[in-house]
Amino acid sequence: MSQTLFDYTRQDAAGACSTAHAWAKVPAPLTPPERHALAERAAALLKQHNAVLVAHYYVDGALQDLALATGGIVSDSLEMARFGRDHAAQTLVVAGVRFMGETAKILSPEKRVLMPDLDATCSLDLGCPADDFARFCDAHPDRQVVVYANTSAAVKARADWMVTSSCALEIVSDLHAKGQKILWAPDRHLGRYIQEQTGADMLLWNGACIVHDEFRGLELEILREQHPGALVLVHPESPKSVVEQADVVGSTSALIKAVVEGNAPAYIVATDNGILHRMRQLAPGKTLIEAPTAGNSATCKSCAHCPWMAMNGLANLVDCLESGEPQIQVDEPLRVKAQACINRMLDFTAARRSATAAPTSGITPGIGAA
Ligand code: 13P
Ligand code: SF4
Repeated sequence: MSQTLFDYTRQDAAGACSTAHAWAKVPAPLTPPERHALAERAAALLKQHNAVLVAHYYVDGALQDLALATGGIVSDSLEMARFGRDHAAQTLVVAGVRFMGETAKILSPEKRVLMPDLDATCSLDLGCPADDFARFCDAHPDRQVVVYANTSAAVKARADWMVTSSCALEIVSDLHAKGQKILWAPDRHLGRYIQEQTGADMLLWNGACIVHDEFRGLELEILREQHPGALVLVHPESPKSVVEQADVVGSTSALIKAVVEGNAPAYIVATDNGILHRMRQLAPGKTLIEAPTAGNSATCKSCAHCPWMAMNGLANLVDCLESGEPQIQVDEPLRVKAQACINRMLDFTAARRSATAAPTSGITPGIGAA
């Protein structure tokens, strides 16, 4: 299976700017005894340092299992932010990508935030440099600036709102109802989806996730014919031709919830295939089929897995706990500015939760849902 190669030429971007660089840093597979020994060592170090592991659904299954076994969390990006902010531990270890570590640090500057590899970034973050973005904002001062979580602290510092895939629809809908026009960045597919759902006046930045951008509508149609009755679950970072065929469109937590609570025997899943680990655990016996990323309409056959998420492993997790490096640092004036748009989102979702006495995208026990 070939890997999608993508290069970001800007020299000032943080992290591994090309996917080739990211794939080269993905840890080698471990033997079961190696995995067991490293997981035990990591658990002991987490305890010794009063640290908690905050993991995303796309990272290696061994890290997800370790997070759950040691009192941490595996969740979507909104719940990762909430959990890190609210947990008493003074050290947060974030297994995910850089913007997730930065969000944790922005919300909890007094805590030490470690990551296994700071080069783990995101194509959406790389595709939205802060200075270009500032010019876009300057050109449209009449618009509310809404940015996706998958951005740098500097981009968040320019925003009025941060959103994640689990609350973006509600927040934009609310702004639209109040007569606000929106400037949206960076994911063009998610932006278009929200624009279509809400009817809001939105200007879109032209960014994309290299993983979700590879799902193909034409091949999905063929797959659906082969599996009549299968429910189609799609993350909204996917192209329109894929989203249009979805039975459920939602955040990673929402897609897991759909599998756990659904009555269908089979599910076609259009998101990073790291999510299948938790889906299999929570919904044993259900058939999970990966959505197609290849075929006549594809530019290449992608592996449907994020190279930056894949950079997190047990060995570099142990290393960062032993050495206390690398740590996320965010310049204080920038942090204060970036915090405002994240808090606005957290306050909005908390108010919605208490008003409806139900979460925005549902909580199923065992799911780190929004
Ligand atoms: P979620 O917030 O849905 O977990 O998505 C994060 C992400 O990076 C998806 O590619
Ligand atoms: Fe970014 Fe896509 Fe990776 Fe998510 S899956 S972290 S959006 S590149």
